[in-house]
Amino acid sequence: MTLNRTQASLTKAMLLIGALIGGQAQADQAENISTETLYLQQCAACHGPDRLGGMGPALLPDNLGRLKQSEAEQVIREGRPATQMGGYQTLLNNEQIAALTDFIYQPPSHELKWGEAEIRSSQEVSHPQGSLPDKPVFEADLMNLFLVVEIGDHHVTLLDGDKLEPIHRFPSRFALHGGPKYSPDGRYVYFGSRDGWITKYDIYNLKVVAEVRAGINMRNIAVSADGNYVLAANYLPHSMVLFDARNLDMLDFIPVQNDAGDSSRVSAVYTAPPRGSFIAALKDMPEAWEIAVENGEAKVRRMTTDTLLDDFFFDPGYRHLIGAARDGKHGVVIDLDTGQTTAELPLPGMPHLGSGITWEYEGRRVMATPHFRAGAISIIDMDTWQVIKTLKTEGPGFFMRSHENSRYAWADVFFGPNADKVHIIDKQTLEIVRTLQPEPGKVAAHVEFDRYGEKLLLSIWDNDGAIIVYDADTLEEEKRLPMKKPSGKYNVWNKINYEEGTSH
Ligand code: HEC
Repeated sequence: MTLNRTQASLTKAMLLIGALIGGQAQADQAENISTETLYLQQCAACHGPDRLGGMGPALLPDNLGRLKQSEAEQVIREGRPATQMGGYQTLLNNEQIAALTDFIYQPPSHELKWGEAEIRSSQEVSHPQGSLPDKPVFEADLMNLFLVVEIGDHHVTLLDGDKLEPIHRFPSRFALHGGPKYSPDGRYVYFGSRDGWITKYDIYNLKVVAEVRAGINMRNIAVSADGNYVLAANYLPHSMVLFDARNLDMLDFIPVQNDAGDSSRVSAVYTAPPRGSFIAALKDMPEAWEIAVENGEAKVRRMTTDTLLDDFFFDPGYRHLIGAARDGKHGVVIDLDTGQTTAELPLPGMPHLGSGITWEYEGRRVMATPHFRAGAISIIDMDTWQVIKTLKTEGPGFFMRSHENSRYAWADVFFGPNADKVHIIDKQTLEIVRTLQPEPGKVAAHVEFDRYGEKLLLSIWDNDGAIIVYDADTLEEEKRLPMKKPSGKYNVWNKINYEEGTSH
């Protein structure tokens, strides 16, 4: 998508490296050189002289956290099929490949900087706001579109939610995560990538309109309820960055620090529509932050919490934050007005609150959350903050989904031998009424409903995977669309209306 610029910087990097080391070295003459030099010769052109990434992804320990070292070694040896990442087994010997693998899992020798200047110079606006037509280039219900993130080959598919057919497929940045966010009118979508890139995409025109790199290793992004701002939450550096949503101009750079000067990663940031603010929690210090924007500047209100908050959720009115304590054994309820902890909940094993959902049960609001480390789903009364039911599942889960119009909630088993199963829970009896195993041996995960709650999409989370369409009422499979490791799916209507059955 930014090929020209990437190619230009690639050539620049190659020239630079050429000048540094005097031309491309071959394996035989590379025997005695240091691993760092080997990296500069063989890898830096694509992965950046500082390992910050370029045309290839960043190769830094935090960014590689989800890739096992042995897997990285295999990638270097054999390459990745159908990508620019070629195999090095004929060029480099085993020791060199092992040394390079070790090298990329080591922190850099000097601290990497990604501050205001770096952010500003990374910005690229290909179509300034207002320069593209307002009429969509395709016909479909614009409120019932889905975006499917395919992490298998870093693409995104736009789906017609009525016909349940693809409209368009386009390349994304490497390793999108944290969930794309729509503008309030549903025309634009903002993607965040592992390596810190924010991409703004115009769905009506099927075009990337602006990009900026907010950090080196990013957790997620949020879009303000009025659609005016995008806030990025980083792991590296320890910062949050505020952007004007129109062309992704940087407005404010917020170092994440306490008064003593200690800094922290950000666990995540979400928009809190009724409050007109953003709420973030910190990963390395027990604080939650409320961030409001005044005259293009971020105003931070800090709340001290009793525990570190890795993952969290809100009640529908955004009065309370429900967080998972670091010990994984309980949840805390924090009043967002006072900053006080008002309740504690016993929870069996590292809840994934970020994917919690809520519904009406016997006249009161309940929330349900799966757990990363226990085969259980906790159902919690949101008035009394009591756990009213713990459902036993066939293994730890990742996502839960429902829709206001559906009587069922769907919960995947994501870890362990039963990761190919999905549970369906009746929201009125709080019982598991059916367990599906749509593709034995392949992970089945993450459901998203259409805008009406009539159909739903389930992912077969595999490079040779698919989206399965189900009738939300009869629970019958209707069709399969082949996809490359479709991770998340995001329905425009459900997301912009903060539908109770989906995470935000
Ligand atoms: C011509 C460009 C290019 C060169 C040169 C290159 N790579 Fe890559 N590399 C890529 C691309 C592109 C990817 C992403 C492939 C994909 O889509 O999965 C990648 C992926 C990787 C990954 C996997 C990263 C992840 O997070 O999954 C590792 C590890 C890696 N490269 C290491 C190296 C090393 C070490 C060298 C030097 C010996 C090297 N690469 C040289 C382009 C390159």
